[in-house]
Formats: sequence, C-alpha cells, structure tokens
Amino acid sequence: MNFELKVLPSSQLPSLVADALVVLLPESPAQQPAAGALGALVQAAEAAGHLETGAAKTLGCYPVPGFKASRLVLVRCGEGPAGVRKAVTAALGQLKSPRLRRLGVVTALHPLDAEGVAVAIQAVAEATYVYTATKPSAKARSLERCQIVVERDAGLREGVLLGRARVAGLEMAREWANRPANHATPAMLADAARKLGRAPGFRTEVLGPGQVEKLGMGAFLAVARGSAQPLRFIVMHYQGAARSEAPVVLVGKGITFDTGGISIKPAAGMDEMKFDMGGAASVLGTFAALGELRPAVNVVGLIPACENMPDGKAVKPGDVVTSMSGQTIEILNTDAEGRLILCDALTYAARFKPRCVIDIATLTGACVIALGNVRSGLFSSDDSLAAALAAAGESAQDPCWRMPLDDEYAEGLKSSFADMANVAGREAGSVTAAKFLQKFVKEVRWAHLDIAGTAWKSGAAKGATGRPVPLLLEFLRGESAAQGDGTKAPGKAARKARRG
Ligand code: BES
Ligand code: MN
Ligand code: ZN
Repeated sequence: MNFELKVLPSSQLPSLVADALVVLLPESPAQQPAAGALGALVQAAEAAGHLETGAAKTLGCYPVPGFKASRLVLVRCGEGPAGVRKAVTAALGQLKSPRLRRLGVVTALHPLDAEGVAVAIQAVAEATYVYTATKPSAKARSLERCQIVVERDAGLREGVLLGRARVAGLEMAREWANRPANHATPAMLADAARKLGRAPGFRTEVLGPGQVEKLGMGAFLAVARGSAQPLRFIVMHYQGAARSEAPVVLVGKGITFDTGGISIKPAAGMDEMKFDMGGAASVLGTFAALGELRPAVNVVGLIPACENMPDGKAVKPGDVVTSMSGQTIEILNTDAEGRLILCDALTYAARFKPRCVIDIATLTGACVIALGNVRSGLFSSDDSLAAALAAAGESAQDPCWRMPLDDEYAEGLKSSFADMANVAGREAGSVTAAKFLQKFVKEVRWAHLDIAGTAWKSGAAKGATGRPVPLLLEFLRGESAAQGDGTKAPGKAARKARRG
C-alpha cells in the first residue's frame, strides 16, 4: 500500500479521482462556512441536521454531484492527534468496501500538522490490515493508494515519512505476532531478522544452541531444553550514526509458544501464548521502521527465541541453573520462563557498552491485572530514561505507566539453594519479575516494558496490536535528536542510504 502527500487547492477537490474521500472537519461547525463545493456540501449537511457535532461523528455521502470521487465520508476530528486517529478510524469503519482501492484523506477544512498526517496514515493502515498468512480465504487488503490531500506542503512530507515508518513497523510486528507457533518458529524469526539485515546500514547475526552454550547462557538453555525446535539468539544491528556512538539496545522476549513447561498452563486460552513473542515482534517491527526512517542513532536488537514446552528433557521445578552472569537461579516455576531467557540476553547486552538497554516482554499476567490493555508497564531505576519512554508513549499514542522498583519487592526472590529463585509470591507479580531482571543490569541504564496486556487483543477481534512499536520508534527518534545535530532530521549518511 502506497501513502503519499497530494498538494491540491481546495477548488480542485471535486476533480480528484478516488473510490472514496474522507473529509476531516473540525469538531463543531465553523463560524464561517468554507468556500467551494465541499464547503457547500458541509453547510447543507449541517443545515439539514444530518451532520452531528462532536468527535468522530460521521456522515456518509453517496453519490455527491460534481465530485469525481465515488463517495465521501465527512468526519469530525476531536482534539490533537488522538482526535485525528479516532476520526479516521471511524470514517474507515463506514468504508468497509471490498473494492476500496484509492482513498483520499482531505484536510482542507481541518488542516493537519506533521504528526496529524502520520497519525492519519497510521489509522488508515490499522483499519485496513488483514491477516492472510495462514488464511487464504481472507479477502486481502484492497487499498492500493492513500493520498493525504493538503493545500500546502508546509513540512508535511516529514509526517508522511513518519507515518510510513510506523506502518511498516506495526505491520511487521503484527504479522509475526499473529502467526501461529508452527509458522513462527525461532528459526523462522531468525530468517525474518536476516532479511531485515540485508538493507544498507543493517546487519544480522544468528546464534544457535552450540554458540549459546559456549556463551554460558544456562538460563536461556534451560527454557529451550524441552522443545524439539532449536533455539535461536538473534543479534540485529542498525547503524544510523557514527560507529563511535554507543547504541541503544532493545531486547525482545521471543517465546514462540509458552505452554508453561512442566508447570503447565490450563488448556483454556492457551492458544494465545503464541503471542508470547510479542516483544521479539516489536523489535523486528522497530527495525523495519528504522529502515524507513533511518534516524541518526545506532541500535542493537537482541532476541532470545525458543519454545517453552514440557518434555522428558525439560527443566523441572527446583532445578538450579547458572546464568551467563554467573548468578545461579532456582527455577521454582517453569512458567516464569520469560525472565530466564531475558536475563542472559541482558548480560550479553553489556558487551555493546550501550547508552541504554530496553527490554520488551509479554512477561506477566499480573501486569494485565494491574494495567489492563490500555498502558504497558514501565519499570526503570533511571528517572531520565523512564521519563523519555513515558513521553514517547504519550506522543505516539502508545502509552505506558511507570511502576515501582523498591528493593523490598525483591525479598521474595530469595532462595535456599541458589543466588535467587525465578518467582516470588503472588503479590505484585509484575514488579517482582522486573526486580529479577534488574539483578542482571547492574551497570547500565535500563528499562523494562511489560506488554502482556497491550501486545494483543483477545475476544472476537483477537490479534496482535503491534505495540509498542510506535513508542519505541518515537523514543529512538528522540535519541537521534539528542545525539545528532539537534534536529529530528536523518543524518547525511542516512539520507544517502535511503536513496539507495
Ligand atoms: N507469558 C506469560 C505471561 C502472560 C500471561 C502474558 C498471560 C499474557 C497473558 C509468562 O511467561 C508467564 O507465564 N508468567 C507467569 C509468571 C508466574 C508463574 C510467576 C504468570 O504471569 O502467571
Ligand atoms: Mn510462562
Ligand atoms: Zn511467557
């Protein structure tokens, strides 16, 4: 699908050829009615009482004499980017046509800024995404071209680039998270990462069981033991800044299926544990987005990928393993496996001398209880990193909420037989999980995002959301501004690479 900016004076809107035009309007009727055919249409609809006041109120018009477009949907935008997103989503809800190929989003009566343009693009993509990988009967996305129609360019091309990047990232993440575990094995995730690694500025390395054993990743190996699918440790590099610039390291939990292992989960709803690689999917998605946007920042992506299965070889409750850090872990519950694969990846991350490490994981059911599916859990002992991530989440409409990390929460992780246990009691489960991870990041700025509630939706509209790709991309854009020339524009080398 192709998103582009179309600069067109409003007097020429009637001649725009499209299957549909979504016309953005202010939340309430304008004091002065707009000129031209579109203004007249809106005025007539308002006068007749057919166009209600209020955010996301829509009116479908078909056919509209004088307009070449087959149909128009008028929609009122609430405040800011969130208002644009809701409005475009509502308008697309009215356009559930299998033949919608060419779409225009008209901003003449409600001009957008760059973020508004990005959000409009994101909303169109989200409303038209179709999962087809294992469902040949599904009608593939019909939309081929979406034009954001503006009167003046005025810096809006940056919004188109950002929108395209978010869409590329979100769709990559949704696609991989949605695939069932037999179509998204650790080896298949590694192949996807290798493919991303072919673009200029990108490089991917993939380690197998032998190399992971040599590294001493005893915790990761313990989880992977019970599965017939061999583990992969994926290392992705994006170089957008000088080699000497310390990278941001992203670590994504890549449990391609979580049965719980010997501490097996109940049968009901277990299928949803195919989404337990949502963190890994968000790292792949973020790299896809980086490929579009090419910000001046260096990023390393680490994905420990394996299944958590019960088996004769599987790790057992009470087993003690030695992590790459040298610390020993008593595995009291094999269903607390995410922290076991992440702890070794966090130890590995130190070799990049990172400016910060952020891990992303569908880590705990307790986080779903605490925050539901609205905000991801954010844990960090570094106030400036936490603030930057929280702000990125707000501005990308992919919000998170900071949770505590007081040392008292780590009490329950004490073990009589190892340096720590992998679980504490039932209370504050998302916090004790974060305290476990924190034992492996003593010398680096670190944050942990628990996306157990936000990475996918259950119920009738079951499916991956692609979160927190928008948050991560926004954070990395900020990092590029922080280390670059003070603008969010990509560096010279990055622009060159984008031209190919
Ligand atoms: N992948 C799950 C967490 C999860 C559960 C995410 C439900 C989304 C929905 C994780 O590996 C897990 O099983 N965590 C346990 C930890 C417990 C054994 C301490 C949990 O949350 O129950
Ligand atoms: Mn588990
Ligand atoms: Zn899990």
